[in-house]
Amino acid sequence: MEERVLSGEALMNDQSFEQSLRPQTLSQYIGQDKIKNNLSVFIEAAKMRKETLDHVLLYGPPGLGKTTLAVVIANEMGVGVRTTSGPAIERPGDLAAILTSLEPGEVLFIDEIHRLPRAIEEVLYPAMEDYCLDIVIGKGPEARSVRLDLPPFTLVGATTRAGAISAPLRDRFGVLSRLEYYDEQQLTDIVVRTAAILETEIDWNGAVEIARRSRGTPRIANRLLRRVRDFAQVRGDGIITLSLADEALELLQVDKLGLDHIDHKLLTGIIEKFRGGPVGLDTIAASIGEESTTIEDVYEPYLLQIGFLQRTPRGRVVTNQVYEHFKLTVPDK
Ligand SMILES: Nc1ncnc2c1ncn2[C@@H]1O[C@H](COP(=O)(O)OP(=O)(O)OP(=O)(O)O)[C@@H](O)[C@H]1O
Ligand SMILES: [Mg+2]
Repeated sequence: MEERVLSGEALMNDQSFEQSLRPQTLSQYIGQDKIKNNLSVFIEAAKMRKETLDHVLLYGPPGLGKTTLAVVIANEMGVGVRTTSGPAIERPGDLAAILTSLEPGEVLFIDEIHRLPRAIEEVLYPAMEDYCLDIVIGKGPEARSVRLDLPPFTLVGATTRAGAISAPLRDRFGVLSRLEYYDEQQLTDIVVRTAAILETEIDWNGAVEIARRSRGTPRIANRLLRRVRDFAQVRGDGIITLSLADEALELLQVDKLGLDHIDHKLLTGIIEKFRGGPVGLDTIAASIGEESTTIEDVYEPYLLQIGFLQRTPRGRVVTNQVYEHFKLTVPDK
């Protein structure tokens, strides 16, 4: 599959680069003020009582800083963090091995927690509630259940699909935090911070221009910065200005609002083939040759967020803003 420079999900080259950019403390973590304020109170209270922090569920679109925040939480609590993911835990024994090897107070981070098999979720319930494991030893009539004590720990779960988490699992988290898309100011701050770490010179307007086209997502902002930096080194004097950022992003086919050819195809498809809607998701999917779930999970969220698309009971509708963006005349309806 072709790599989309505007993908919120991590691409091949992102990982090693992102590692060095991750904020380590709440004060370095930009934006998400409501979550940060809540967490700092809970963290301080837990530390005063010398208890572990309540279990935390972080949810929201890819690239908004869930993994980063999990590590920040552990750092602020002054404890270590063990990282795993839903699909990596295949058998109850895998989870038991991890849980029994935790140091007291540690954070266990389970990414993509919605992909945890049900049988394993059930092992997790008593672990989360009472810090214990019920394990079955032996088979058939000989089998007996043994209860094993665990060190106290904090589970931090992350998911892009909160709706896919079972109610019993969700109910066992004390703190549920939904990460929001970042505004232009916050993304500008993130771009400036990253540029400083990369020792890249950038002026304020250059940073704003990158922020504006980053779809509210720090991961995309950092990726675009890196691409623009390459361009600045090759074509300019290495300094990122407004005009240089504009030129580089134009070449990357990222438009002024952070939309690319896929967004264009989706939006103009609805306009040209369905007179702007309403049109059902499956019909759109068939007409542009994409999966409905890809449209729903990957392409649509940002377009809904900026008010370019609306969900109605009769299907998707493009708004007048889309016609204006593409310089088309708004039809009479
Ligand atoms: N609040 C923030 N301040 C500064 N940088 C951030 C912030 N949030 C995220 N980032 C940057 O964005 C990158 C992506 O963040 P992260 O990996 O935490 O996202 P995620 O929500 O876990 O994504 P996924 O859903 O794909 O797992 C990080 O490398 C980090 O540098
Ligand atoms: Mg993550």
